[in-house]
Amino acid sequence: MKVTVISYSLTGNNESLATSVASAFSAEHIRITESKSRAMGKIAFDMLFNRTPKVSSTVNNVESDCIVIFVGPVWMGQVASPLRSCFNSLKTRLNRYFFVSISGGADGPNPKLSSELMKRLGKKPTAIIDLHIADLLPSEPKPTRNDTSAYRLNNEDVKNLTSKIVKAVQEAIVK
Ligand SMILES: Cc1cc2nc3c(=O)[nH]c(=O)nc-3n(C[C@H](O)[C@H](O)[C@H](O)COP(=O)(O)O)c2cc1C
Repeated sequence: MKVTVISYSLTGNNESLATSVASAFSAEHIRITESKSRAMGKIAFDMLFNRTPKVSSTVNNVESDCIVIFVGPVWMGQVASPLRSCFNSLKTRLNRYFFVSISGGADGPNPKLSSELMKRLGKKPTAIIDLHIADLLPSEPKPTRNDTSAYRLNNEDVKNLTSKIVKAVQEAIVK
């Protein structure tokens, strides 16, 4: 089974996770980057106006028979906009794919991811693995958006979350 991990991260959480997942699957790892640093206002702008920002990386060499694991943050209920251009490039030649995120989760799950991925990639993901920082924090007092935004995954978190992801991917593949 050939696996390719394609990731984007703004503040490092999804980068740590993607690196670890790629290593666990001995996968090629393509990092989507932007040439300019991203301000918070640009996140809202992209989300509200459905923009596809220019990115520096290319996914032209991804083969159609490999399993693609996209890893990236959720912003305002949607997949982070820098992943959109690679979705466009891969739309017609993607076979099986997963979307994995370590998102904030302070307001609960992100229920619109499945329909968004379906719309952008033309097929359903094999699975969405939406992991939440809120679940890594004490439940009392209830974690706020500020708490989850400030949190950075430590090595133990990365190890535990990677095991969950590997198990979920393997189970979904043998189904
Ligand atoms: C502008 C903005 C909007 C966000 N919206 C959501 C959201 O809708 N749902 C969620 O669970 N997390 C949300 N988050 C939290 C991020 O998904 C979370 O902090 C993530 O771990 C950041 O990933 P990164 O370090 O790889 O960039 C948001 C963060 C920012 C900055």
